[in-house]
Amino acid sequence: MQTTTSRKRSREWFERAQGSLVEGVNSPSRGEAVYSGGPTFLERGRGSRVWDADGNEYVDFMMSFGALMQGHAHPKLVSVVSETMAQGSHFAAATSAEVEAAERFRRMVPSAGVVRFTNTGSEATMLALRLARAHTGRAKFLKFEGHYHGWYDPYLLNAHSHPPGESGTPEEPARIPDSEGIPPATFDDVVLAPWNDVAVLESIMQRHGHELAAVITEPIMANMGCILPRDGYLQRLRELTQENGVLLILDEVVTGFRYAPGGCQEYYGIRPDLSTFGKALGAGFPVGAVAGPRAILDRMRWGANMVLHYGTFNGHRLTMKVVAANLDLLSGDGTYRQLHAIGDAAVAGLRDVFRSRKVEAIVQGFGPMFQIYFTQRDAIHSYRDYCAHVDALRYSQFVHRLLDHGIYMTPANGLHWIISTAHTEGDIQKLLEAADQACGEMA
Ligand SMILES: Cc1ncc(COP(=O)(O)O)c(C=O)c1O
Repeated sequence: MQTTTSRKRSREWFERAQGSLVEGVNSPSRGEAVYSGGPTFLERGRGSRVWDADGNEYVDFMMSFGALMQGHAHPKLVSVVSETMAQGSHFAAATSAEVEAAERFRRMVPSAGVVRFTNTGSEATMLALRLARAHTGRAKFLKFEGHYHGWYDPYLLNAHSHPPGESGTPEEPARIPDSEGIPPATFDDVVLAPWNDVAVLESIMQRHGHELAAVITEPIMANMGCILPRDGYLQRLRELTQENGVLLILDEVVTGFRYAPGGCQEYYGIRPDLSTFGKALGAGFPVGAVAGPRAILDRMRWGANMVLHYGTFNGHRLTMKVVAANLDLLSGDGTYRQLHAIGDAAVAGLRDVFRSRKVEAIVQGFGPMFQIYFTQRDAIHSYRDYCAHVDALRYSQFVHRLLDHGIYMTPANGLHWIISTAHTEGDIQKLLEAADQACGEMA
């Protein structure tokens, strides 16, 4: 059954958008680079559903790249926003709203001695690195291939996938900048390593540990789909950083407030020195955060030798009110149990569909976040596995079919499926029916 009847209006908007926006969008991940034939223009959302410019209805599993933890237009957030707006959205002055948001944040994230709010995840990771460099007096840092930490210059090395022949060796990965316009010398301070391989990590840390300010890692690799850490990997990383006086920055922009109240650091029992947040924290409003002990974050205190962090919109009042209300909702009884149960049902159901349709595909991840890989492998453990063994084109074709069957998702295989508190068993049923149809059409 084809549920999407027409995309005529989306096409018209996209054509019109070419006149005033680069590629007709505000980020390449939303345009023709990902959506063949152009994007679907979304106009309205409620709960787990969105409607496009032509009136087609979809169950949304992209949820603003995971930002919409409470789905669309949650009634409590709608009333908080309208009440706050009526009193003034932002003063760029001290407010009780930012205190209330920070107190709730600290209650949920055990490593947060204090918190500093930013406007995006990119700003948070930028600030975390500056703090780590100031705190250790070292300039270099280690990042992993295939990890994305926002669009700040030094992070833009090997964040995208490349043909497997271009990866170099695990000990000496090829260094491939993701953007023009970055002076090559920026990357002189970056040590690049493959992720999820303890032996290679130990050897690279032996060579470089003494000169690193920080190692930054995603706890679950979320920008090559959904790649879980091997047992003990994060723990060993924690030990190696501690032994070398290197700060561990856990980038929880995707995973924070998603897997557990305290994010993956709670789920995997890791205590980072600094952690960064975004996405789910703001329930659809632009926000980021850096959390950690006072001994590090206090370096931002005003005075000689301070770490500078300014921002007109930091602690934006309207956003802070949403953050506090969102964290209250997430702290409710059973929230995470429900997110995990619904997500696990989707994962199990999709696996059944692929098995019964004899499609070579795996579903990786669990609970609130997962990804589908068309591959002959049993599991994808790293960037190199992803580049060599994942058929991203087939995934894109699959998702384009789902879009025709009332399921909204990005066709980019590097992203991931998101379960919000608004998703129901009925939504999963709809997904499984659409997936079954799509598999049948692709056979
Ligand atoms: C792990 C990770 N860190 C940082 C960022 C940057 O966050 P933002 O897009 O809010 O700047 C992202 C964005 O996708 C991310 O996935």
